[in-house]
Amino acid sequence: MPEMSAERYWDDPMLAGKYDEEFKGVIGAHVNRAEVDTMIEEFEIKGRPVLLDAGCGTGRHLIKLPESVRYIGVDTSLPMLQIAKRRAKAQGRSGHFVACDITQLPFKNGVFDGVMSTRVLQHITNQGQAVAECARATKIGGQVVILVYNSLTIHCLWKCFRHSRLAFLLGRMFGLLSGGRSNSLLARIHRNYYNDFNSVPEMKRLFSKAGIKVHKVKGTDISHIWFVTNFRLATMCERFIPRLLARYFSLCERVEAKVSERVPFVYLLDKIVVKGIVNG
Ligand SMILES: C[S@@+](CC[C@H](N)C(=O)[O-])C[C@H]1O[C@@H](n2cnc3c(N)ncnc32)[C@H](O)[C@@H]1O
Repeated sequence: MPEMSAERYWDDPMLAGKYDEEFKGVIGAHVNRAEVDTMIEEFEIKGRPVLLDAGCGTGRHLIKLPESVRYIGVDTSLPMLQIAKRRAKAQGRSGHFVACDITQLPFKNGVFDGVMSTRVLQHITNQGQAVAECARATKIGGQVVILVYNSLTIHCLWKCFRHSRLAFLLGRMFGLLSGGRSNSLLARIHRNYYNDFNSVPEMKRLFSKAGIKVHKVKGTDISHIWFVTNFRLATMCERFIPRLLARYFSLCERVEAKVSERVPFVYLLDKIVVKGIVNG
């Protein structure tokens, strides 16, 4: 049961093609607000900054950034980059896309005014090297903002289970019983790509080792909507209770605006956003 590297996982054109489905409908709009809007809010955009989106995927950040930003998106997955490029063109947005690994960025020191990275660090075995590379490529005084999944959540326990040998055996057994025809959650329960969530103290350590002074830490996505999306309830909820969902999200977002930087919420929400400034 060897673990697949995240690069190979995201290299699958079918998975890349399906990635943006996660951001459709009422649930998708909420997830985008919790991730992309939160990330962009944390950036102080002055003048025409040169910004690196490390692990840009299908480019969902570019289309929401102000046009003044000079955008470079990097990713190891060609299918994801192709989608990002097509989408940018369709939306009339300019940006440059580069296929590379963020642990070995092909850029000189201090060329970026800022780096953002959403849901990428979890897929990288050498997270310290990735954060250090982001810091190296950013100018002194530049911003580094990273969003990761929180390891101190029930979501993380569920993720650990899905990556376990027990889940592998369950999936195999169910697959055999259904003659390989089932597409249910049980048949697909096992995940075998590298996926490592982080805690707030871990993130602070990674930043400090890379020479980035932590400026702000906040939690995001109090709704814990992963439960609905992981258990394939999303389509049903979107279809039968869209207004209730929208009201629930609106309440969550109002509460989150008040508590996301406070203890204990900062340590316990589904995702963590850490903003730092590169030290001299
Ligand atoms: C969950 S997606 C997130 C994409 C995008 N940041 C977003 O928020 O929509 C993870 C992305 O990280 C990319 N990735 C994984 N490991 C990488 C690495 N070492 N260097 C660059 N990109 C990487 C994958 O190819 C994938 O596109």
